[in-house]
Amino acid sequence: MEATRVAVAGRGLVPAGEPVLRGDDRGVLHGDGLFETLHLRDGRPWLRDAHLARLRAGAVAVDLPLPPRAVLVELLDAVSAGWPASTEGALRLVCTRGPEGGDAPTVYATLGEVPAATRRARRDGVTVATLPLGVAARSRPELGWLPTGVKSTSYALSTAARRWAARAGVDDVLWVSTDGYVLEGPTANVVWLRDGTLSTVPAAETGILPGVTAHHLLERAAELGLTPAEHLPTLADLAAAEAIWLTSSLRGLAEIRTLDGTPRPRSPLTPHLLTLLGFPHSTGGR
Ligand SMILES: Cc1ncc(COP(=O)(O)O)c(C=O)c1O
Repeated sequence: MEATRVAVAGRGLVPAGEPVLRGDDRGVLHGDGLFETLHLRDGRPWLRDAHLARLRAGAVAVDLPLPPRAVLVELLDAVSAGWPASTEGALRLVCTRGPEGGDAPTVYATLGEVPAATRRARRDGVTVATLPLGVAARSRPELGWLPTGVKSTSYALSTAARRWAARAGVDDVLWVSTDGYVLEGPTANVVWLRDGTLSTVPAAETGILPGVTAHHLLERAAELGLTPAEHLPTLADLAAAEAIWLTSSLRGLAEIRTLDGTPRPRSPLTPHLLTLLGFPHSTGGR
């Protein structure tokens, strides 16, 4: 097993046990920061530029001074240099607001192996339950003051949902709005197939995270003869879908095999979608 690596902007690789944050860093005190999770394959971060673009857009939305792109690219290169091409890596790029009273962000990257459970979810699919989120589907972008669609380090909601999932005996959850629409999972977007249309939830309209993986998948859907679309699904829409997947950078995609206790047949499309995400058939599930 590869040990976790840590690199700091401007310093390069540091011993993994060396502290890289101060105790008064606002990333720690307030969850005031942004991050990206990238999938390292063949030693390179998959869809790197799309992740860097989302990070940049998020930084603008929350007034976080990011270092120039070249510094971030150098950091990603430093942490991944020499990583074995055959080992899938989970690469996290973290930018917090830094120590209180200053204006210099803390910028570092970590790299470890993609957990076996993540690879298993890609191969075998997942069981999912729906969970109320307590907000209306379109309410958050309408507020105006609330930055939406940013990958914030404040993951309290997501970790609470994952703990609920563990207690409920399911692998993951899908959040449902007060007006009955399925939005996203705590660490994934939802994509579904019906009558040749591959759909996902519109991010701008709902304030969910615009997923790099879902976007890439829909952008290439035509290669499989599918029409890409964005719309808000009700639970009934999802129940009527031919197949449903969770998408995220490390999983790529995981087919939903059981939704709220109802089993769903395996979709013959799953291996083809994995191919669109760059996972060869032989390794798609490994
Ligand atoms: C809330 C949320 N939605 C969606 C996603 C999927 O995004 P991506 O495909 O860019 O990894 C994530 C990823 O962690 C997430 O945290």
